[in-house]
Amino acid sequence: MESTNTFDRDWVAYYNAVTGRPPRDTLLATLARFEAENSVNVPRFAVDLGCGDGRDTVELLRRGWRVLAIDGEAEAIARLVNRPDIVANRLETQVSRFEDLTLPQGVGLVNGSFCLPFCPPAYFPSLWEKIVNCLVPGGRFCGQLFGDRDSWAVYSSMTHHTRSQVDELLQPFEVEVFDEEDHPGKTALGEEKYWHIFHIGARKR
Ligand SMILES: C[S@@+](CC[C@H](N)C(=O)[O-])C[C@H]1O[C@@H](n2cnc3c(N)ncnc32)[C@H](O)[C@@H]1O
Repeated sequence: MESTNTFDRDWVAYYNAVTGRPPRDTLLATLARFEAENSVNVPRFAVDLGCGDGRDTVELLRRGWRVLAIDGEAEAIARLVNRPDIVANRLETQVSRFEDLTLPQGVGLVNGSFCLPFCPPAYFPSLWEKIVNCLVPGGRFCGQLFGDRDSWAVYSSMTHHTRSQVDELLQPFEVEVFDEEDHPGKTALGEEKYWHIFHIGARKR
């Protein structure tokens, strides 16, 4: 029997709550790696998965990257393209769910900030494989995965990982940033929540 314990998020309320927030630290740390390395072999082409209203996309565009911004919610993309701070000439957008995503080849960076755990478990292995395969060698992934002690791990529609499962996923990469957060806190909407988060920055071998 199919489980009904699904996570039903009001994404518009989330977008309203986080309007104007700065880019994620995992993205900033990863962009600093690219800038220090200054490699000509890695295309400055990024995919921003689960981009929301674009806090990371705007930063990538500002730093000269071409960006494919993807989100399952049409409202996220509408808010992104209407941002006053957007430089849109290197931006492509796509409304697409992780469950049936197609990614282009030759990507330099996949950014997945606080979004991949919302992929249902049955689809996560194929999503991760697409992320790894779209990256060129020397390309990077940055973003978050949620751990097994996270309070949302009770939702069967979400994907959580143990530390050793995360290590396994990161096998194709050299890990450059790895921070594990594990503490009670609040969501952007002010709800009480236990957070267990892996913050990741990694370079494809
Ligand atoms: C917590 S928000 C993160 C937004 C932004 N990346 C940030 O860091 O603030 C998660 C985003 O993932 C998107 N999302 C959730 N489930 C998805 C799915 N199955 N396919 C595609 N996008 C999804 C939501 O629409 C939302 O914009």
